[in-house]
Amino acid sequence: MRIESPRILAALGELGVEHRPGASLAELTSLGIGGTSDLLRIRQHQHLPALIRLLRAEGIEHRFLGGGTNVLIADGELPWVVLQLIGPRPDVVIDGNSVWVDAAADLGRAVTTCARHNLGGMEGLIGVPGSVGGALRMNAGAYGTEIGRFVREVELYRSSTGENETVRDSAISFEYRHTSFAPSDVMLRARLDLPSKPYEEILAGIRVCNEKRRASQPLNQKSAGCIFKNPPGGSAGRMIDGLGLKGFRVGDAMVSDRHANFFVNVGHASYSDMLGLIAEVRARVHAAHGCDLEEEVIVWNE
Ligand code: EPU
Repeated sequence: MRIESPRILAALGELGVEHRPGASLAELTSLGIGGTSDLLRIRQHQHLPALIRLLRAEGIEHRFLGGGTNVLIADGELPWVVLQLIGPRPDVVIDGNSVWVDAAADLGRAVTTCARHNLGGMEGLIGVPGSVGGALRMNAGAYGTEIGRFVREVELYRSSTGENETVRDSAISFEYRHTSFAPSDVMLRARLDLPSKPYEEILAGIRVCNEKRRASQPLNQKSAGCIFKNPPGGSAGRMIDGLGLKGFRVGDAMVSDRHANFFVNVGHASYSDMLGLIAEVRARVHAAHGCDLEEEVIVWNE
């Protein structure tokens, strides 16, 4: 969607919003798939409620994009504008064992910044691509660590009240790749409590996780990480692999030949290529195992 009204553009300017007309979402996502839309980048969290009020009053639909690493976006001119937070500098502020991390901060960089201050625990998250906001919303996890374990409070924009609020950890439930945040809540920043650990020890843990990831995941290809959640007690990757589907393609969307739960864009995959591949693999797993795989990737269609 394009915003062309000078009046609305002026109001956006007053809120300190950066307007990028006709942004390519393929360039903003790790899958390299997605159409075009105006992109609104917000530097000051306190202006978010006013921005959303403005968009609602003008009948402009919007979606929030974090790091773009776990989303599959439709092609063509999209019927909504895309909002993205820009983090302050510094985006990680450390006070003893407490760390304030901005939602726009890169998760991996946040992990290494904490490590340099001898704060550990999050080593397993090192190679998880994306922003802290996306990691909080999904309760990102890897190698036995989930971010939710360290969260003490979260500042968020709550769409149901139209205000920014602070929520304590006791009021949030973090489960496997799922949280109690509403889909329309927007993560702004979080306070984490991290255990003290010598830098060298954290670094050793980070190296082990990086090695494991390099050995088993297609890190140099365009993907959204794992496409499906693991079913309780099972492994989506192992099931898909067991059906001989590594290398299986729909157009330029392909089941990775390295890890079968990673679907990669090997050229110019379209949204429907990727969606078609997801549907076909899900159908085959269902036929073979009677198990309905649930998508982990978030799909933005019309
Ligand atoms: N396996 C296969 N073939 C494959 C892939 C995996 O046989 O093509 C087998 C492995 O040999 C292993 C089992 O399946 O015995 C599990 O595989 P892996 O250790 O790679 O873990 P995963 O369950 O597939 C999960 C997360 C990953 C995370 C890794 C490491 C989910 C959906 N995936 O993968 O997270 O990086 O553990 O902790 O929970 C993501 O969420 O996007 C993601 C990549």
